[in-house]
Amino acid sequence: MAWGVWRIPELRLRALGDPRGNDLLELGCGAARWSIALARRGARAVGIDLSPAQLAHAVRLVRRSGRNVPLVRGDAEHLPLRDASFDTVFCDWGAMTFCDPLRTVPEAARVLRPGGRLVFATASPFRNLLQDRRTDRMGRTLRYDYFGLHRIDYGNEVNFQLTYGGWIRLFAENGLVVESLTETRPAPGAKTPYLSPSESRTARHWPVEAIWQVRKAGR
Ligand SMILES: C[S@@+](CC[C@H](N)C(=O)[O-])C[C@H]1O[C@@H](n2cnc3c(N)ncnc32)[C@H](O)[C@@H]1O
Repeated sequence: MAWGVWRIPELRLRALGDPRGNDLLELGCGAARWSIALARRGARAVGIDLSPAQLAHAVRLVRRSGRNVPLVRGDAEHLPLRDASFDTVFCDWGAMTFCDPLRTVPEAARVLRPGGRLVFATASPFRNLLQDRRTDRMGRTLRYDYFGLHRIDYGNEVNFQLTYGGWIRLFAENGLVVESLTETRPAPGAKTPYLSPSESRTARHWPVEAIWQVRKAGR
């Protein structure tokens, strides 16, 4: 299990804590690789995804793993899950990137138990301001209005982003307290299949990815 563009090992970040015996929900699980790995470490992990194709892939990998990982077809903006039923809600560039946080954050807070955590890796606001929405390429010029950040249409996909103040306000309104914000920075010369060499150099100067760790108050 490794987070984000720079594959930061979960064993180093420890964002999910000790998963043994915990109920975890992966929002936008894709092939459910994280959920399977967590089940191997003794967690009760559930994957949810909107895409039947992604879930079909996940079903194959879960079967092959021999683990019990329930998979749910559903929308992260309207979770078909009970209140206070998870210790951790998380995703690595999953539904939190592609769904409206004004809907996903309240939903994540609703299904979390008191003291539970929401952890997700997604773009930083810098990335969405540096990335040309027609070509997808990230340069070194702030192209767009920071205060206008919300729904971002890249033509082939829609992403969502808030200002830093907007995220913190939204978390607070939903009883979530920020514990950590990791602004990932590559080592000099680091390569990733997700960014061009020039974009990787840009990421040395401005954080293009954020890993939010927030906790539901009350325990
Ligand atoms: C980039 S993939 C990442 C998947 C996973 N983190 C992985 O590493 O395989 C994003 C996933 O979010 C899912 N997704 C997008 N919108 C969603 C929504 N509204 N509800 C649930 N899942 C959604 C997509 O179907 C896709 O599987």
